Amino acid sequence: MQLFDDLEDFGEFEDFVSGDVRDPYTELARLRREEPVQKIEIPGIPGEEGKPIVMVYRYEEAQQLLRDNETFSSAIIIQAFGDVFGKHVMLGMDEPEHGRHRNLVAKAFSQKALSRWEDTLVSAAGNALIDRFADRGHAELTKEFTFPYPTLIIAGLLGLPQEDFAQFQRWSISMLAFTVNPERGREASEALAEYLRPILEARRAEPRDDLISGLAAAEIDGEKLSDEEIFSFLRLLLPAGVETTYRAFGNLLYGLLTHPDQLEAVRIDRSLISQAIEEAVRWEPPLSMITRVATRDTELGGVHIPAGSSVMPVLGSANREERRFADPEEFNIFRPARAHIGFGYGVHVCLGMHLARMEMRVALNLLLDRLPNLRLDPSVGDVYIRGQVFRSPTSLPVVFDVAGT
Ligand code: HEM
Repeated sequence: MQLFDDLEDFGEFEDFVSGDVRDPYTELARLRREEPVQKIEIPGIPGEEGKPIVMVYRYEEAQQLLRDNETFSSAIIIQAFGDVFGKHVMLGMDEPEHGRHRNLVAKAFSQKALSRWEDTLVSAAGNALIDRFADRGHAELTKEFTFPYPTLIIAGLLGLPQEDFAQFQRWSISMLAFTVNPERGREASEALAEYLRPILEARRAEPRDDLISGLAAAEIDGEKLSDEEIFSFLRLLLPAGVETTYRAFGNLLYGLLTHPDQLEAVRIDRSLISQAIEEAVRWEPPLSMITRVATRDTELGGVHIPAGSSVMPVLGSANREERRFADPEEFNIFRPARAHIGFGYGVHVCLGMHLARMEMRVALNLLLDRLPNLRLDPSVGDVYIRGQVFRSPTSLPVVFDVAGT
């Protein structure tokens, strides 16, 4: 079965990964009230008896478990996804290995290091995409903007040649869709490493001003990243940097387009963009749950958790904790600022959050500047956010005035 062989299969991929769950939140609110730490026994898996899955719905316990990264290990991520990301993926490492690895790559993702990409790469990518539809008066923003945009940026950060972008995007889709088609995911993962190998060698020999050269040169106390570690990191950047950002930006646009008063406020006063971004990631985190494994018998919120249990903080639920956020189900960019955990929390907190915020800020500014009177297309009904683990809008059909007509 050749799934996702072409970008046209984008819709199919969406159906598989997201599922058609429209409103998980009513049930999540009930679970927060009645069973904030929920143990789900899974009978019948040989060797796994007594190892439940534990879902964590409230902010406080989610934060507590993410802080305690000794009791709640990330190793489970390598067990689940090592085949496609490689065995050296930082998302699945524990301390001290994780800290060493993260320090080596962190410099490239600091706000300061990223600022130089803003005009050259990020704005240029946004403008190039908008050029394709600005004269048309209508667009479908998930296909035409939110999905290709972060891919162009990651490819640009890596310094990959323009002509390889389409291939790069196909591999991204296959890797992202690993859970529904493992074989294809693995093939894409290997193909990507083979493709990157000569590029890494070339950058080692002759460094350029790009992320791969930076990773090849990064050194702490005489230690460098191995080739395998670099490939694992680069492979992680696709799902971590593309999937989440395109979904988060879709959710932000959906929130604003369905609340025209808030969209208008942002259009007039662009300093509101930062809080609009935070509110969107609080309200609809694109990645609704993450996972850990208990390394020893422990307890959370009064519930006993046996060693070996999978423990899943539900970010989408914690971010709607009523004891922390008033009217949590509302999208309200004017709510008082309060930290959320849509970017995770603790040692694995999103490495790319400054990049994601910058990408969304730049893109929203460009769309508002270049597409006057931007609004949802009233002739297309029933646009909504869907998904269980990954959440984003089904589509974003918009209309706008064409400048100069
Ligand atoms: C709005 C967009 C994004 C959201 C909501 C998001 C969310 C997250 C979350 C929840 C985690 C923690 C996972 C865990 O603890 O198991 C994470 C980790 C990570 N994210 Fe993001 N992410 C976004 C964008 C990005 C971008 C643009 C990049 C890079 C280009 C990126 C790179 C990473 C990496 C490398 C990690 C692993 C960090 C570590 O293990 O120390 N993310 N992200």
